[in-house]
Amino acid sequence: MTRSNISIRKARKSDAPRMVEIMESNHHYYTPEVDGIEAIARQLKMRHNVILVATDSENVVGFVLGTWDGARAFLFKMSVHPDFQKQGIGTMLVKEAACQYRDMGAVTIGLSAADGTGGEQNNAVGFWEKLGFEQIPARLMINFEIEKLTEGN
Ligand SMILES: CC(C)(COP(=O)(O)OP(=O)(O)OC[C@H]1O[C@@H](n2cnc3c(N)ncnc32)[C@H](O)[C@@H]1OP(=O)(O)O)[C@@H](O)C(=O)NCCC(=O)NCCS
Repeated sequence: MTRSNISIRKARKSDAPRMVEIMESNHHYYTPEVDGIEAIARQLKMRHNVILVATDSENVVGFVLGTWDGARAFLFKMSVHPDFQKQGIGTMLVKEAACQYRDMGAVTIGLSAADGTGGEQNNAVGFWEKLGFEQIPARLMINFEIEKLTEGN
C-alpha cells in the first residue's frame, strides 16, 4: 500500500533533529559523531550524497541517506518512524533514492543490512529482499580508530 498523503523530498538542515528522533525511536541512533545533527548538516553539503525524507502533511516520518562513488550507490541509513512502518513509506524512499542514483549514473545499489545478529534490535533483511536486494558473501569491516590508524602520518 502506498500512502497518498506522503511526499518524498530532499532533506534540509532543519530536518536533522527529527531524523535523529526517528533513529532513536528505532534504537539505531548509535554515535552522535556519525549519526548526529552536525554530521547530518555536513552530509547535506556533500554533492554525492542523496538524503531524502518522507513527510506526511505535518512531519518528517522517515528518511534514507546514502552516497555513490561514480559507479555504485550505497545506502548508509534508513529509518521510518515505528508509527508509520509497514505502510509503503520505506519502499517509496528506496525507490526514489534509486531513481536519483540511476540518473546520476549508478549501476548498482547496496547496503549493509541490519539482521539482528550484531546486537542491533532491527532485522530488515526481509524488507530489502522484497525490493530485490540479494545477500552476498561479504563481511562489513570498520576501523573505529582512524586517529590511531593514521598516527605518525
Ligand atoms: C526497515 C524499514 C525501513 C522498512 O520501512 P517500511 O516503511 O516499514 O517498509 P514498507 O512498508 O515499504 O515495506 C515493504 C514490504 O516489506 C515488509 N517489511 C517491512 N519491514 C520489514 C522487516 N523489518 N522485515 C521483513 N519485512 C519487512 C513490509 O511488510 C512490506 O511487505 P508487503 O509488500 O508484503 O506488504 C522500517 O521498518 C524501519 O525503519 N525499521 C527500523 C530501522 C531499520 O531496520 N532500518 C534499516 C536498517 S538496514
